Amino acid sequence: MRGPVQMMVTRPMSRQPLDMDHRVTVPDLVAAKRAGRRITMLTAYDHPTALLLDEAGIDCLLVGDSLGMVVQGQPDALGVTLDQMIYHGRMVARAAKRALVIVDMPFLSYQVNDDEAVRNAGRILQETGAHAVKLEGGRRNVGAIRRMVDAGIPVMGHVGLTPQSVRRLGGFKVQRDADGLLADAKAVEEAGVFGVVVECVPAELGKRVTQALGVPTIGIGAGPACDGQVLVINDLLGLEQTVKPKFVKQQADLAGVIRAAAQRYANEVREGAYPGPDHVFS
Ligand code: KIV
Repeated sequence: MRGPVQMMVTRPMSRQPLDMDHRVTVPDLVAAKRAGRRITMLTAYDHPTALLLDEAGIDCLLVGDSLGMVVQGQPDALGVTLDQMIYHGRMVARAAKRALVIVDMPFLSYQVNDDEAVRNAGRILQETGAHAVKLEGGRRNVGAIRRMVDAGIPVMGHVGLTPQSVRRLGGFKVQRDADGLLADAKAVEEAGVFGVVVECVPAELGKRVTQALGVPTIGIGAGPACDGQVLVINDLLGLEQTVKPKFVKQQADLAGVIRAAAQRYANEVREGAYPGPDHVFS
């Protein structure tokens, strides 16, 4: 959405979902903000999970580089490569019939220079079938965003806590620099992003950014005033055992379900109860 930043009039939010009958598009998300419809987003890293989330009517699936932590078991996302993002992006894009699929650009795939950034974003769209890319950072990345948007690539921004800068930020901490956050969000909007993830900021600041932008904000730990919400699927499902961020509302205990199923299986194998008569070929 290249162009002047408008101040949005605050409208009451609607409980109506986005249109369920057709593929969610980039313009649908901007229209959702104007209509006061909240946008739902979850991360997905593999085909079976993406199929279920798509069937559940989640509007956007984000192939996040958080996969470095929750899938690969690394301490942060810095080790994730472009080829790995493409590998996971392809599985998710293949599954999604309705959801808009957004793939994270990993560390160093867009920061070195703008030519490389456009080429790498283009590779993601060409090789995965995803619909958009997301990259972190604000004012310092407007050159890369402009070039991608000029090439026809839909780009989502990401401000506030930007996990690829975790070592500079000194850890996964709430970000409180209101002026810096607003300047970053407005800069990426002016450069042409169609939406902005706002991560780990006080709720009041999440509201200010949301009111200042014409494109939708998708919050994660940024309070209820954002135009949409995103969570890491492993946190939502209770698969993540080590870190429990304050903003996560866990909706299931899959860790418990998986552990109990594996223990029942092991007991049955050890006792000779499995395979039983129903599970053998005659
Ligand atoms: O990598 C990721 O999963 C993300 C979300 C936390 C927004 O960027």
